[in-house]
Amino acid sequence: LVSSPEQREEEHADLIAALPSASAADSPVKLLRYQGFWLPDFYVAAAINLQQRFEPRRDDVIVASFPKCGTTWLNALTFATMARAAYPPAGADHPLLRLNPHQCLPFLEGLFQGGREAELEALPSPRLMNTHMPLPMVPRAVPACRLVYICRDPKDMVVSLWHFLGRLRPELPFNSVFECTCDGTMSYGPVWDHVLGYWRAAIARPDKVLFLRYEELLRDPAGQVRTLAGFLGTPFSAAEEASGTVDSIVKLCSFGHLKGLEANKIGHLNPLLPIPRDALFRNGASGDWVNHMTPEMASHLDEIVAEKMRGTGFTF
Ligand code: A3P
Repeated sequence: LVSSPEQREEEHADLIAALPSASAADSPVKLLRYQGFWLPDFYVAAAINLQQRFEPRRDDVIVASFPKCGTTWLNALTFATMARAAYPPAGADHPLLRLNPHQCLPFLEGLFQGGREAELEALPSPRLMNTHMPLPMVPRAVPACRLVYICRDPKDMVVSLWHFLGRLRPELPFNSVFECTCDGTMSYGPVWDHVLGYWRAAIARPDKVLFLRYEELLRDPAGQVRTLAGFLGTPFSAAEEASGTVDSIVKLCSFGHLKGLEANKIGHLNPLLPIPRDALFRNGASGDWVNHMTPEMASHLDEIVAEKMRGTGFTF
């Protein structure tokens, strides 16, 4: 039985109307709390539909992240790694030279929100997709397919988010974004529950979930790309190693290279978020939080996160 997006919204209208709501500093839209997570209201029906209707294939790969934690970079690296046979990373016609990394793979909640999930069905295997949704919104993904998750020091995430949102709302005070991070009331938040869901899944099924850190990617991009390729079941061959494929991927996806491309300077991200694409490439480093928050603010956020993570074995 096929129903239109409007019918589906309608199907879930009662459930959605009963959800707790909040306005949040990080979002111009209303947030609704669905199964413990604050989602932009226009993505709640998408989350329900994802849970009910997304059919993962065994060879699917999903890049997952909390916003502003390195999604664009990981999208680019995963795409370049998976597509390396068809598109050699040093090639002059590589898609990443003419497309923004987000245009190289579909955004799950975007498709489900727009009633365009049939486009997913039409994709040839192996499919590569991207989501910011917490793991409970894609409940059949583990162990059905593979997931690559990236996390980042929440202090740097806050700074990155504030700059990003500032492109739409220059008057937005840093403190409001900081405070909504501390109390969890932000899009896809709380960040600690988002991270923990994927981290626990990675512990339970390391063959299915690869848990990466932005800071580690910065420290050793080539090593992390080798780990990624191995996890995806396509480790670099001796011939690829000898011809410098890993370094070509790292270089192709590097901050400086992507930032300089025309495809990443012009246009907007998507109609729901009319932020210029170049906002995705700001600083590309770790530790910028020292320039934006006092040591007291930093320890306050660190303590909240440490408290939430207590007993889980996870540390940032
Ligand atoms: P900063 O604002 O701290 O610079 P996301 O892609 O999840 O929205 O995350 C955006 C953050 O990743 C931004 O952080 C951005 O500069 C950084 N970033 C984007 N592309 C990158 C790359 N190729 N290498 C390193 N960092 C990158």
